[in-house]
Amino acid sequence: MATLDFAAPAKRKVTRLTDLTESQQAAIRLIPAERDAVVVPMTETRPNAIFTGRERFETEQARIFRRFPVPILPEAVVAEPGSVVAIEAYGMALLVSRARDGAVRVLLNACQHKGSKLIEDCIVHRQGRMTCPYHAWTYGLDGKLIGVARPDVFEGFDKGTRGLRELPSRVMGGFVYAQLDGSEPDFSQVSDQVSADLDALGIPNAHVYGRKRFDLKANWKVVLEPFLEGYHVQRLHAASIGDRFVDAPSIVDQFGANIRQVSGRAGYEPSMLDEDPETNVHKLVTHAYTAFPNIVIVTSQYYISAMILMPYDVDRTVVEYCMLTPGPATTPKAEEVFERSYELIINVFGGEDFRAAEISQTGLAMGVPEEPLYCGLEDNILRYYNALEALL
Ligand code: FES
Ligand SMILES: [Fe+2]
Repeated sequence: MATLDFAAPAKRKVTRLTDLTESQQAAIRLIPAERDAVVVPMTETRPNAIFTGRERFETEQARIFRRFPVPILPEAVVAEPGSVVAIEAYGMALLVSRARDGAVRVLLNACQHKGSKLIEDCIVHRQGRMTCPYHAWTYGLDGKLIGVARPDVFEGFDKGTRGLRELPSRVMGGFVYAQLDGSEPDFSQVSDQVSADLDALGIPNAHVYGRKRFDLKANWKVVLEPFLEGYHVQRLHAASIGDRFVDAPSIVDQFGANIRQVSGRAGYEPSMLDEDPETNVHKLVTHAYTAFPNIVIVTSQYYISAMILMPYDVDRTVVEYCMLTPGPATTPKAEEVFERSYELIINVFGGEDFRAAEISQTGLAMGVPEEPLYCGLEDNILRYYNALEALL
């Protein structure tokens, strides 16, 4: 878990303790003072093959990523009705649109004439329709085929049968989920409590300050691990943010294969919660979530990091990173804070956590260690793996 912060932007919306769900508040109330925190020693292992084995990768694909709906994007990326963005997710070319009716849809980015992509870049387009670059067929953001060039040269052609293919989808906790194989989605693994928590954190209505895609040479779980443990923070991040943290454990709640961690910032005392009810709760507490199966959320004082870790191969993971703020910067001071925060977080996650994942994968690929080892500060990783393995 990591918190990053700077001086407060001048005008901002603040999340108060009482804005959070009852369940979040109850967890936060259990965080001990920094000096009272205890870590229970533990030693456990996992086989190397869970990060390097082809069979395990294929099983995860079949039993998790193609069986259950998976997150594609934070819905905030297409906040405005009449916006659409193309994204390559899990190896599929997709479009996520919010039509004028406000409904979010996940469509295949593939023209029903010859298969061409309709949108090739990754920026958010604000437009009511999409025109194929090849022969200029035009579709609405709801996927309906609106018009074809030279309709007179087609014989007996019914536009109604050539709408874009849509994947079953739903928005929960501010994330757009889609069922990649097109079958009836089973949302049983997405936690209602976690979705309510993410709603309370303001994720559905956040402003997307920045987005970045990382293509990493590491198994998705190797990329995930640092977000589930505090052991590395003071070490890997020694030169950046490590000194802001202690090795204190978090208050952890598990909802199936979803983990919620809340922890006090350095110097935390429970009495701080009641000093001023208007205080920005993110100044006192860091929230971190691993939401089924591959969402990572980490809160900071003035923004939230939202990541989706998409497995592409045994040793390849594509991460979609979004920095979410309560609103766009309204002053130069706020803009400067957001800009510096974005640079720092990209350096910390990209240059430190993701780098650690890549340089670990090289060892794992050589069979070292045969059994990676987990200690008392890494117990959340095993909690998550146990829940995940129950589905395999
Ligand atoms: S492939 Fe799209 S119009 Fe021909
Ligand atoms: Fe980290």
